[in-house]
Amino acid sequence: MKLSVFGCGYLGAVHAAAMVSLGHEVIGVDPDAAKIAKLSAGETPFFEPGLPEILAEGIASGRLSFTTDPAAAADADVHFVGVGTPQRKDGAGADMTYVNQAVADLIPHLKPGALVVGKSTVPVGTAARLATLVEQAGARLAWNPEFLREGFAVKDTIEPDRLVYGVAEATKDQDTEILDSVYATAIASGTPRIVTDYATAELVKVAANSFLATKISFINAMAEIAEVTGADVTQLADAIGHDARIGRRFLNAGVGFGGGCLPKDIRAFTARAEELGKGESVAFLKQVDEINLRRRQRLVDLVSDSFDGQVFGRRVAVLGLAFKPDSDDIRDSPALDVAVRLKGLGAEVISHDPEAMDNARRVHPQLDYATSVDEALAGAEAVVVVTEWKQYRELDPAATASAVARPVVFDGRNTLDPAAWRAAGWTYTGMGR
Ligand code: UDX
Repeated sequence: MKLSVFGCGYLGAVHAAAMVSLGHEVIGVDPDAAKIAKLSAGETPFFEPGLPEILAEGIASGRLSFTTDPAAAADADVHFVGVGTPQRKDGAGADMTYVNQAVADLIPHLKPGALVVGKSTVPVGTAARLATLVEQAGARLAWNPEFLREGFAVKDTIEPDRLVYGVAEATKDQDTEILDSVYATAIASGTPRIVTDYATAELVKVAANSFLATKISFINAMAEIAEVTGADVTQLADAIGHDARIGRRFLNAGVGFGGGCLPKDIRAFTARAEELGKGESVAFLKQVDEINLRRRQRLVDLVSDSFDGQVFGRRVAVLGLAFKPDSDDIRDSPALDVAVRLKGLGAEVISHDPEAMDNARRVHPQLDYATSVDEALAGAEAVVVVTEWKQYRELDPAATASAVARPVVFDGRNTLDPAAWRAAGWTYTGMGR
């Protein structure tokens, strides 16, 4: 099929390349000329394992191209809208500028009967509003939320856990058939598919992210209790996780969640529920957010306490800046926030991250960045692990002890083996263990 993808950021670029590897012909459209030039040359504007390969294959096949010109997408049968919906500058709600602009750019070029498919995470009610505009242009609209995780984006797009189609009742069968053809490979392998209305499809996405955020803040709340009782939150998570109704995944306590999705999605959902007069239904999400942000400060306080509050001028190695491993994304990153807060207290912070340092440097030039882990560790009086990159998890405690000035480690992701580090002479502090 001939597809277009409006928006070539994280979601859109991955979606475009993945659709080509499923056999379709795809044109990616984005107003950012620099981004289009990069993608056209086969370069990925961000770190995502597996993306460079499928991008290069797509371009070489002649079935993947990128443009800034919406008119070039005119002959596509299906147009995906995968632009960002960042948090608004005033803090409340999602910024819908890019979604509105993409649909406005697309409308003059829609051929009769084309299907516009929204993938962005939007406030419930958006699809119904956009459907009116698209239908006036003689085309139709479906909402098909995306559940990809950074670091696994290619796999999550090609082999999703489930497919959700929000479609108009009047054209349900027709639209379902088109989306089934787009996702024929996943459908053939038995991927569960939910065909529903617009509002449900929009809500599935924010509900899923809210649930995941709640699960993380739940275990972090337990970490707070564990800290005052001497309990171990990791063992607690293992024990409750054996109950299949609870499940062990997303019960890792630490500095909490960040990234371009969970934090802004729970805030936008709260704002939307308030607009709908149902703020009380999701009032708990404010606590989810608060617990999450509290854990960052908790880690900073633990480091500061280890210096009896005299953190000024102390050399602190911060290992990790990305919001999670296998990503160079620093949006709302707890790791970067911890580094900045320690620096704000006057610590001599030296940070390291295998992929995210360039992005961090652009936003926080005041931090010092080490070119290697060894450089970060040399002479450190405290080591703070805040992103669980494999290379940090695999640090040898004995060798690391001889590199630092004071063997004191803070495990912001509960990712190190406390017994091994203590045996090598370290003072180990985890988060709630
Ligand atoms: C998330 C959703 O998982 C995905 O389905 C959705 O499409 C987009 O948002 P992503 O932002 O890539 O994906 O990251 P995810 O793997 O969910 O991690 C989010 C944050 O939670 C990270 O900062 C991670 O470190 C943190 N986290 C995750 C925890 O603190 N504890 C956990 O147990 C799991």
